[in-house]
Amino acid sequence: MIKELLRIAREISHFVKYEVDYLVERNEGEAVVRMGADGTPTRKIDMIAEEVILDILYEKDLPVKVISEEAGEVPISDDYEYVLALDPIDGTFNSLRNIPFYSISMAFSTSNSMKDIFFGYIFDLSGENEYYATREGAFKNGRPLKVSRERELSRANVIYYGGDDWKIVDRIKRTRLLGCASLELCLVAEGKMDAFVDCRNSLRVFDVAAGILMVSSAGGKVSKEKGQEVDNGISIGERINIVASNELLHDSLVEALNEG
Ligand code: IPD
Ligand code: CA
Repeated sequence: MIKELLRIAREISHFVKYEVDYLVERNEGEAVVRMGADGTPTRKIDMIAEEVILDILYEKDLPVKVISEEAGEVPISDDYEYVLALDPIDGTFNSLRNIPFYSISMAFSTSNSMKDIFFGYIFDLSGENEYYATREGAFKNGRPLKVSRERELSRANVIYYGGDDWKIVDRIKRTRLLGCASLELCLVAEGKMDAFVDCRNSLRVFDVAAGILMVSSAGGKVSKEKGQEVDNGISIGERINIVASNELLHDSLVEALNEG
C-alpha cells in the first residue's frame, strides 16, 4: 500500500508543481476565491492545487476520505479505508511572495485519529525536495533522516511560535520562524533545527500531521505543549499546539514551557 501511495503522491507533486510554478512566476495566485472550510480565505493558488490533487485522487478511485484545508471533508469513495489529512499548499503566504519555502503536505491514517497516521508525505515545491515517512523511518530524497543530538536547551536552535508569552526565547540559542509548519518540522527531522514549538492554539492538524510522523520516525519525540500524546482527531475545526524535538531535549523544553 505504501508503495502505491508514494507513487500517487509523486504524481500529485508533479502536477501541482507545474500549476503552482506558473502562478508564482506570474504573481497570479493571490486572489481570494472564497472562504475555505477552515474559515480562512482560499486563494487562487490554494484552490488550484487542491483541485489538481482531488482530481487525481478521484481518477485513481483511492479508498480515502480527504480532510482538506479548503474543501473540508471530501469522501473520494463511499467505502473508504483511510483518512487523508491534506494541506494542498502549506505556507501559502510564502508562495504568494515567492519566498521559496512552501509545500504540499499529506498524511494518511487508518482512522480519524492522528495516532493512526502511517504515511506522511511532504513535497517542498520550490526546492523540489521530497520528504516521506512511514512508522519505520523518514527519508529526504531517498536518504534516511535523523534528528539532531543537541541536549542542552541553552545551545538549542528552535523554531518557536510562542503563543501568549514567549517564555523560553531567552533560554535558547537562536530561533527561526519560516512560515511553513510542514517544512519546519522536516528541518527538525533532518537535524538542521533542534526543535519546533508552536503554542498559539492555531495550527490545524493538516498543517502538521505529516511533519509529526516525519520527526518521530527520524528518532525524535512529539507531544502537545504539556507533554501529552498527540491524539487529536483529524478534523477541520481541530487546533493543536506541539513540541517536536530530538528525545534528548524534549523533557527540558516541555518543562521550560510550563514553568510558572
Ligand atoms: C500556515 C503555515 C504556517 C503556520 C500557520 C499556518 P497555510 O498554513 O503552516 O507555517 O505558522 O499557522 O496556518 O495557511 O499556509 O496552509
Ligand atoms: Ca494551506
